[in-house]
Amino acid sequence: PAPGWTDTVDVVVIGSGIAGLTAALRLREFGSVLVVTKDVVASGSTQWAQGGIAAALDPEDSPEDHLQDTLVAGAGLSDPAAVRALVTEGPDAVRDLIELGAVFDKLADGDLSLTREGGHHRNRIAHAGGDATGAEIERALVAAVKRADDIRIIEHALVLDLLRAADGAVAGVTLHVMGEGQLDGVGAIRSRAVVLASGGLGQLYAATTNPSVSTGDGMALALRAGAKVRDLEFIQFHPTVLWLGKGAKGQQPLVSEAVRGEGAFLVDHDGNRFMEGQHELADLAPRDIVAKAIMRQMLATGKDHMLLDARHFGDEKWRVRFPTILASCRSHGIDPVRELIPVAPACHYSSGGVWTDLHGQTSVPGLYACGEVACTGVHGANRLASNSLLEGLVFARRIAAVLADDLPDLREPADDGRVPGLVDADVVPELQRVMTVGAGVIRSATGLADAGDRLGELIRKPAGEPGTPSWEATNLATVATALVAAATVREESRGSHWREDHPDRDDTQWSGNLDLTLPGDGT
Ligand code: SIN
Repeated sequence: PAPGWTDTVDVVVIGSGIAGLTAALRLREFGSVLVVTKDVVASGSTQWAQGGIAAALDPEDSPEDHLQDTLVAGAGLSDPAAVRALVTEGPDAVRDLIELGAVFDKLADGDLSLTREGGHHRNRIAHAGGDATGAEIERALVAAVKRADDIRIIEHALVLDLLRAADGAVAGVTLHVMGEGQLDGVGAIRSRAVVLASGGLGQLYAATTNPSVSTGDGMALALRAGAKVRDLEFIQFHPTVLWLGKGAKGQQPLVSEAVRGEGAFLVDHDGNRFMEGQHELADLAPRDIVAKAIMRQMLATGKDHMLLDARHFGDEKWRVRFPTILASCRSHGIDPVRELIPVAPACHYSSGGVWTDLHGQTSVPGLYACGEVACTGVHGANRLASNSLLEGLVFARRIAAVLADDLPDLREPADDGRVPGLVDADVVPELQRVMTVGAGVIRSATGLADAGDRLGELIRKPAGEPGTPSWEATNLATVATALVAAATVREESRGSHWREDHPDRDDTQWSGNLDLTLPGDGT
């Protein structure tokens, strides 16, 4: 749609989680910054993060050990240089977060309390409020942004597309501001750079730990702009999501890996501990291995969930260490102090995304990406637990550092000649079903082909009026199509991509830091 108003800033930041707000706080030191967020500022995935943020903060730990665990989880597809940046800059980045005001849990002697999660060989997960780490980090960042009264924020605004100059470089964004206010309807912000920090895509699937805003908007915008994407097929399913009965849909309550990190264990419906013997770390194996083991048990026994036993924590440990999870279990009628917790895997995180270099630069000049929307090369085929908050933090700082030295000139937007097409909002539940069945935890060539065909039919259903529901549906359909294409061409099982027709990892075809170009050049 044609913009009804125009504004100009140096940098537009899309998204207001740990990545977006960290970028904004650093960018404001040398330019004018506008943060655009689809809901209220604290509504994204960051505030839902439970377990914590991983960094080698213990004197017994080292960035090198953190690097090794990250590479092992990444199953051969992580970029060692990106991981090295993450683990070496991570400890200082977390200390700066503490300096900014984030309050992490401490031991009696005043040292940070560090726990363990799947795939970590050391205690290196800093946490806050027991199991409310993301909420505390978001609180501290929002407070810092509010103190810095030169950062402008537009809430309830969906960024639609990039504005591009005639040579393809970024010239700003178009956006739709919902509801009332000085800015309303569709407008354009001209800018010298755009930082994409818009989070994930969990709403592609019927059940997810992600909030309702996670509709893949940033990834879809980047795909439409012809940006290179990578590793889209590596969707992480969190092994232990509270099972709320058959057909539960939308955002589901997480039961943090830290619960297993503190000694809880998985059992089948006969009380057998099925993780033992599957991996040297048993219940604390990397999460793709735990998710697959749960799925295998579910398939073998015909049950739709497995069980997590943490009764031995007792009342006090549950109250002090996991107050959020305790409250959420009890609100669903389960008392984890006395009962087993029903759990099943659900969509949690997109390990791939918009390709970036080590400084967050995408393949589109002037477009930067960090956080879940980005593929920096850190996560490879499977993200290590609690590396996501850290990645958002470290790479947002890296983007600010390069832009501080080299902020592009303001460009004149050119007409890109694209013909807009919109997908009907009513197709979303069916799209989620199709993705869950055909491109979920277990995939095959036939399942993916069926999913691709059905998506094609759904996309052709004409949309009614343009508006947030149909724009979100369009973004979901765009990302779903690219994801199914990526999952189809990867004919092997690796990390969180599990093909029942190609059950083995195939290093002869797929090893190393592969550049996956999607059919149609990723556009
Ligand atoms: C959790 O607390 O289990 C989630 C941690 C993560 O996704 O990294």
